[in-house]
Amino acid sequence: MKIGICNDHAGVAYKNKLMKMLRRRGFEVVNYGTDVEQSCDYPDFAHRLAEAVEGGEVDLGIALCGTGNGMAITLNKHQGIRAGLAWNTAVGALVKAHNNANVLVLPARFIPYRMASLIVRTWLETEFEGGRHQRRIDKMPCR
Ligand code: RB5
Repeated sequence: MKIGICNDHAGVAYKNKLMKMLRRRGFEVVNYGTDVEQSCDYPDFAHRLAEAVEGGEVDLGIALCGTGNGMAITLNKHQGIRAGLAWNTAVGALVKAHNNANVLVLPARFIPYRMASLIVRTWLETEFEGGRHQRRIDKMPCR
């Protein structure tokens, strides 16, 4: 499985640790984020990741910014993206089981790294439940 990861300046440290953790576990990881902590604009990186997921360059994505909201809002402008924000493992599981999020978004400034790592592992291990949740996803595109 190939995972794309992106971040702004608020997510550099967590991104680096998450990439190491994922590679140790055998995932291929592609970095679409900034590697410096100098202030930058999260949409520049969110669009790159969204295009990579939509184009099949990577299977799933992970995005980090301070609150997670800037990344989530930008990513969800893309038709092929379901980006979900998670701040604990229960939400990390549900965002896959119920929403089939193909991008997991993490609020780097509001959760400890240990929690970020646990959420990522939970989201990756959880299966989409389909059924009524698929029906709801089918209703998501704007009419
Ligand atoms: C950057 O200061 C911050 O605005 C950004 O990381 C994110 O929280 C935006 O939603």
